[in-house]
Amino acid sequence: MYLKEAEAHELDAIYAMGFDTWHDGMFSLKDDCFGLGSVATYQSLRGKGYASHLVNLVKAELFVNHNCKILFLHSDIAHQFYSRLDFVSIEGADCMYISSNSSEFDGSIPTYF
Ligand SMILES: CC(C)(COP(=O)(O)OP(=O)(O)OC[C@H]1O[C@@H](n2cnc3c(N)ncnc32)[C@H](O)[C@@H]1OP(=O)(O)O)[C@@H](O)C(=O)NCCC(=O)NCCS
Repeated sequence: MYLKEAEAHELDAIYAMGFDTWHDGMFSLKDDCFGLGSVATYQSLRGKGYASHLVNLVKAELFVNHNCKILFLHSDIAHQFYSRLDFVSIEGADCMYISSNSSEFDGSIPTYF
């Protein structure tokens, strides 16, 4: 058996495999709930507001055009980055969320997050 690191031109196909496997209910998100993941900015372009702007655009798109009730994410970094973008921390967890209405969140964290 021969194992090798993926090359750049293979990454889309690898991502598509993950999407194929996990897009349909594997994140245990309820109806009208969405998840945000893998936020990253090229190292040389950090600190210019790109990630904040992107997260805000995704938020607006989901809440305005997709009837989003709750948007979840799993924060690997200091929660402050996302709380500045209006995400709320859940005590004892790295899951954060933002909801269209404060009564929407029942306290249960989707599996993946
Ligand atoms: C975190 C990350 C996406 C921010 O991207 P960016 O385009 O530089 O973000 P913005 O310019 O919108 O915001 C910059 C702010 O993020 C803060 N920030 C960067 N890394 C951070 C971290 N690990 N924890 C908390 N805040 C962080 C910066 O201090 C900066 O704050 P300031 O405005 O007070 O100076 C980028 O640093 C990155 O790609 N990191 C590696 C991947 C990663 O950890 N992603 C998060 C997964 S949950």
